Amino acid sequence: MTKKPVVLVIMDGVGKGDGGPGDAVKLANTPNLDRLFATCPHNWLKAHGTAVGLPTDDDMGNSEVGHNALGCGQIYSQGAKLVGESIETGALFQSETWKGLVANCNENGKAFHFLGLLSDGNVHSNIHHLFALLRHAHAEGVKRAYCHILLDGRDVPATSALEYVAQLEDLLRELNTEGCDYAIASGGGRMQITMDRYEANWPMVEAGWRTHVQGLARRFPSAKEAIETYRAETNCIDQDLPAFVVERNGQPVATIANGDSVVLYNFRGDRAQEISLAFDCKDFDKFDRGDYTGVDFAGMLEYDGDLKIPTHYLVQPPVIKNTLTELLCAHNLREYAVSETQKYGHVTYFWNGNRSGKVSEELETYEEIPSDVIPFDQAPAMKSKEITDCMVKAMESGKYDFLRCNFPNGDMVGHTGNIEAVVKAMEYVDEGVGRIIEAGKRLGYVVLVTADHGNADQMLETKKGKTSIRTAHSLNPVPFIVYDPGVEHTLKEGKFGLANVAPTVATLLGLTPPACWEESML
Ligand code: 3PG
Ligand code: CO
Repeated sequence: MTKKPVVLVIMDGVGKGDGGPGDAVKLANTPNLDRLFATCPHNWLKAHGTAVGLPTDDDMGNSEVGHNALGCGQIYSQGAKLVGESIETGALFQSETWKGLVANCNENGKAFHFLGLLSDGNVHSNIHHLFALLRHAHAEGVKRAYCHILLDGRDVPATSALEYVAQLEDLLRELNTEGCDYAIASGGGRMQITMDRYEANWPMVEAGWRTHVQGLARRFPSAKEAIETYRAETNCIDQDLPAFVVERNGQPVATIANGDSVVLYNFRGDRAQEISLAFDCKDFDKFDRGDYTGVDFAGMLEYDGDLKIPTHYLVQPPVIKNTLTELLCAHNLREYAVSETQKYGHVTYFWNGNRSGKVSEELETYEEIPSDVIPFDQAPAMKSKEITDCMVKAMESGKYDFLRCNFPNGDMVGHTGNIEAVVKAMEYVDEGVGRIIEAGKRLGYVVLVTADHGNADQMLETKKGKTSIRTAHSLNPVPFIVYDPGVEHTLKEGKFGLANVAPTVATLLGLTPPACWEESML
């Protein structure tokens, strides 16, 4: 086995498509990747469903669970599964946090607000979790409950919002029994309000605050009318629809008032942290919260276990132990990671088993390149050149034993649904891969190329005979390529997934993978 330093390139959202008109990976001109596939040992890895700790194999993969599995070599039950189980066993409703939220409503006459992504994408949230919370609140005597809904169209079909709104309105009608008021109060597209991540765009969160808390957005008689009107006026897909407030008798149905109970029912952390801080933090300074003095706030999950965000939550997240970083640090090996803002936390925080600090300040070096705040189909190169520059420089420094980077293009441009731009995005990724391979050859590195889940590989979907643009991730396998010129590697035959990558990296570095890990592919 060689003991060269190892580079891992994660092409975010690049899987194996069907080669058809929606497969932007195939449509793109990618001479470097083509050469690697033709000349290097490679496998296709399962990156969705049970292979990454999701409830079923109908669940597509995502960057959180993908980077968790890549970075820890193990398969942990993830938020989607843990919340489902906690609801099923009733543990969630037995928790002190839930009981406190309900008691606040019942004893102090406060309203209960449910804020979150309204879909069954199972990436950030699941509408069925919301339904269970609403039913329980009602059964436990809560009189006033309001939903603040973020429209998806990014983890589910691009224009499916009305289906979820209709399902929710059906349930709310059922719960509107004598003396009760259960209603949708506000909402908007998830890429317009509330769900920013990694502090890329705080004004987005502020716009959410104005909408949900202050009732300051354009008013409509219903969520359905808001969506239909905005669609007609703007041509936007769901994730980009502007904010709205639902009104009744000339007033917002409800705003989140001081002292109310609030649950953020998203389970995934990256896009839940900023709005949690806005509700939770005493000395919050990212924007002016007006006359806000505080609410009883809980997240569905703890979104950051190190920074303790939020203070209260309903379900314990997976506690991920024995990561690759821990193994490398224990052996005094140095590592380097780089990406741009949109995926920086993925390749550090998620990679390290949801750890926000470092295991060793001395051994780990992380670099973040600020992302632009623009629709990424307008700039499909994103920061791929800068990421490559940093990576090549780090390789040239000779300081590191293990280096990784994430190219966000396939995924972030993939989510826009603009196929032409996704093809370009893939060509930029290929250029980056080519330069890293060249540096690897020149400097004596093993270069591994993989991805966290599919997206760019499936930009079209056909449902009930109708073909439309797909903005969500795919369920396709992802590549795992070993580039190590002059060395014969034989990858084992078998069914492998993302959790088999860390042990393979460890083997290449001459380390013995911990017994609790999945097996090495070498
Ligand atoms: C997002 O948050 O942008 C999507 O819901 C999931 O994308 P990611 O898992 O690739 O970050
Ligand atoms: Co994505």
